[in-house]
Amino acid sequence: MNLADSFPAHYDDLALSFEEAWGVIAAGVTNRNSPSHTPAVGTVDASGVPQLRVMILRDVSRDARILRFHTDSRSIKADQLRQNPATSILIYDPAAKVQIRMSGKTHFATTGDIADTAWSTSTPFARRCYMAESAPGMRCAKPSSGLPNWIEGKQPDEEQLADYRTNFAALLVEVESIEWLYLANAGHRRAYWQWDALQNSWVGSWLIP
Ligand SMILES: Cc1cc2nc3c(=O)[nH]c(=O)nc-3n(C[C@H](O)[C@H](O)[C@H](O)COP(=O)(O)O)c2cc1C
Repeated sequence: MNLADSFPAHYDDLALSFEEAWGVIAAGVTNRNSPSHTPAVGTVDASGVPQLRVMILRDVSRDARILRFHTDSRSIKADQLRQNPATSILIYDPAAKVQIRMSGKTHFATTGDIADTAWSTSTPFARRCYMAESAPGMRCAKPSSGLPNWIEGKQPDEEQLADYRTNFAALLVEVESIEWLYLANAGHRRAYWQWDALQNSWVGSWLIP
């Protein structure tokens, strides 16, 4: 079998690999079955230890280089990001045979249009998480959802949710670099793009896998 027969168009094409990378990333917003829907998001804690957790990818703007996530503004990751905005994001899409590693800086949107729209277009069930009485990650004496008893197992209405809007934060990760690894039996392909603010463009290069 000639392995070259099964190469995708992007295999030896840096620009097409970049297109493919953004395609894999953006699929996470529209396709909940895509692995890009649930990337691992890394922060750095106060001791300098990397901390990872899975988060839902809510939106991608390639032009603005921004990935949006939602979280509780009282969460541990939110504290870490206030101290140090450095963020990394990891996606592995086995069907596409692609690993994507991104790094950048997180900006908070807690008020304003972006946060308001993100809040109001989330389902009431999704927003119920923000009704937890104590901050996520706090110790508790008993097993607990953290939610007030009166809303356990119920869907809150808009009026009930309104009081908890302040616990909601949209996290906007401004992507500064993207690393691509395409797995192929005949030979892997690895590439790296760094955002060049002076040139206002991405600068890419192949890397040895
Ligand atoms: C499939 C899945 C999706 C998740 N989505 C989110 C999310 O969108 N936002 C979020 O804050 N936590 C999400 N979590 C929970 C986080 O992984 C993590 O446990 C939680 O946010 C506490 O993290 P922290 O202590 O680092 O703040 C998700 C977990 C799983 C398993």
